[in-house]
Amino acid sequence: MTPGTGPTTSPADLRIRRANEDDSEGIVEIWRTIAAERIYSAVDQPWTVEQQRAYLSSLSPREAVHAAIDGSGSIAGFQSLDLWAASIRSMMHVAQLGTFVLPDWRGRGVGAALFEATRAFARECAYAKFVAQVRASNRSAHAFYHRLGFHACGRLTRQVRIDGLEDDEILMEFFL
Ligand SMILES: CC(C)(COP(=O)(O)OP(=O)(O)OC[C@H]1O[C@@H](n2cnc3c(N)ncnc32)[C@H](O)[C@@H]1OP(=O)(O)O)[C@@H](O)C(=O)NCCC(=O)NCCS
Repeated sequence: MTPGTGPTTSPADLRIRRANEDDSEGIVEIWRTIAAERIYSAVDQPWTVEQQRAYLSSLSPREAVHAAIDGSGSIAGFQSLDLWAASIRSMMHVAQLGTFVLPDWRGRGVGAALFEATRAFARECAYAKFVAQVRASNRSAHAFYHRLGFHACGRLTRQVRIDGLEDDEILMEFFL
């Protein structure tokens, strides 16, 4: 989609499905956009397609990326669910979430639809809790996660440095 021209399909045409390695390019395109915006994520440098492919193929059976696919087959947004600490058995019930939607699709229910799919997957995989790390300045993401039922539970001070500016990260948790 050409930036600024608006989505070519309506939210009703969106479908949510598990992402696979063939989605690497579409997901990296979203990372490029988010990284270029500078203000929403701690990620200020996009991964390469190869790195993204390696990440997707490395996911364990209890981890997943869900993608929102528009009517033309492009990825409008994605949500990742990773183990919070893959090597610590006592935390196997905790997952970390990340949610990223292209600008033209924001505020149109994509993130909420992704969360429904992620939550269903998490229940099947016996998770009890989600954690999201959100930049303190990212008010829209706070509102988004709060609306889903997350609560702020901690702050990592001066955790992000981008372009000479520091930001805190807020930890938000959700119990399934
Ligand atoms: C934050 C983000 C993931 C939300 O996804 P989205 O598809 O825009 O959100 P939705 O349209 O599904 O909104 C769901 C609810 O969240 C809340 N919400 C979403 N965006 C909001 C905003 N900008 N301001 C206030 N509330 C907002 C609303 O309550 C909304 O429900 P409602 O429309 O019924 O009131 C998306 O805007 C995004 O990708 N932003 C840039 C990247 C980012 O900040 N990611 C999070 C990093 S931690």
